[in-house]
Amino acid sequence: MSSSDDNWFTVCKTSDCPPGEGREVVAAGRLIALFNLDGAYFALDGVCPHQGGPLGKGAMQGCIVTCPWHGWQFDVRSGEFQLRKTLVQPTFDVRIDGGDVQVRVKP
Ligand code: FES
Repeated sequence: MSSSDDNWFTVCKTSDCPPGEGREVVAAGRLIALFNLDGAYFALDGVCPHQGGPLGKGAMQGCIVTCPWHGWQFDVRSGEFQLRKTLVQPTFDVRIDGGDVQVRVKP
């Protein structure tokens, strides 16, 4: 599911990603990890910088997601790697349009 409007892509319905959970979605050919933190949505590059694990399939604890492959942990709000804050996973802007979650992916 995807539609483009000034680089905003609909990736799912709000109900598809309930609070405390993440989803792996695709927009503009990019794998994106979408998270719902108490009703606020955040998006990171979905490919873990360690060895390419699927961050969108990681478990959330508070604002921290843990990569399901080897346990690297990132703040879903900022993309900061928890063991070395200088390593930051790219983030994407997220907005809600009606019941749709949209992510902005610049070309
Ligand atoms: S691939 Fe994510 S921790 Fe190794």
